[in-house]
Amino acid sequence: MIRIAPSLLASDFGHLADQIIEVEKYGADWIHVDVMDGHFVPNITFGPPVVASVRKYTGLPFDVHLMVEDTDKFIVPFRNAGADIITVHQESCKNLSRTIRSIKKIGAKAGIVLKPATPVITIKDMLDEIDLVLIMTVEPGFGNQKFIKSILQKIKDMRKMIELSKREILLEVDGGIDKNTAKSVIDAGADVLVAGTSIFKSSSIKTAISSLREASKKHR
Ligand code: DX5
Ligand code: ZN
Repeated sequence: MIRIAPSLLASDFGHLADQIIEVEKYGADWIHVDVMDGHFVPNITFGPPVVASVRKYTGLPFDVHLMVEDTDKFIVPFRNAGADIITVHQESCKNLSRTIRSIKKIGAKAGIVLKPATPVITIKDMLDEIDLVLIMTVEPGFGNQKFIKSILQKIKDMRKMIELSKREILLEVDGGIDKNTAKSVIDAGADVLVAGTSIFKSSSIKTAISSLREASKKHR
């Protein structure tokens, strides 16, 4: 089953709760929350108080993508704010294994994110410890960027590595996902589609989610 995770980055922040309620109503599986600190990426978004404020409006899992320099500092605050899944960047963690263990210890699912230039081999020895891998299909920091086609091979390689590990690890993709790119990432092996612009900036959230769902059904 393919999961769809609308990214709040592209939503109307003035109506955050309503936007969450709407995507849940039209079939979203997770809520993707992009946390940016202005250091690891050149943009700033949400802190834990914002997540805590909207948490009560949905029962869907909150998938919190940390794009911050000091990852360890933010794990407990986001878990307390209601994060169910916490993904951290391979590039920002000095002690990746320790960071992953600290996420699991407080009861959240843990994932590792790879920027476009980071090879999958860098996390081969971490597969026993994680629940999810997130492959960036754009450079992190902003929404509405163009999907980088050459990452498709990396998604395939990651899928192969997951199969070989025999572990149940979800493969999530993030950046430039719409009904067209969805087909190719699913063919390459993705299980979870993060989509910001193609959902929230479309003329109909309902149609956008159902066309992503349709694209998912036809492929795999
Ligand atoms: C980028 C974020 C993405 C972003 C995707 O740094 O991680 O989650 O919201 O946005 P779209 O779907 O517009 O490419
Ligand atoms: Zn993201």
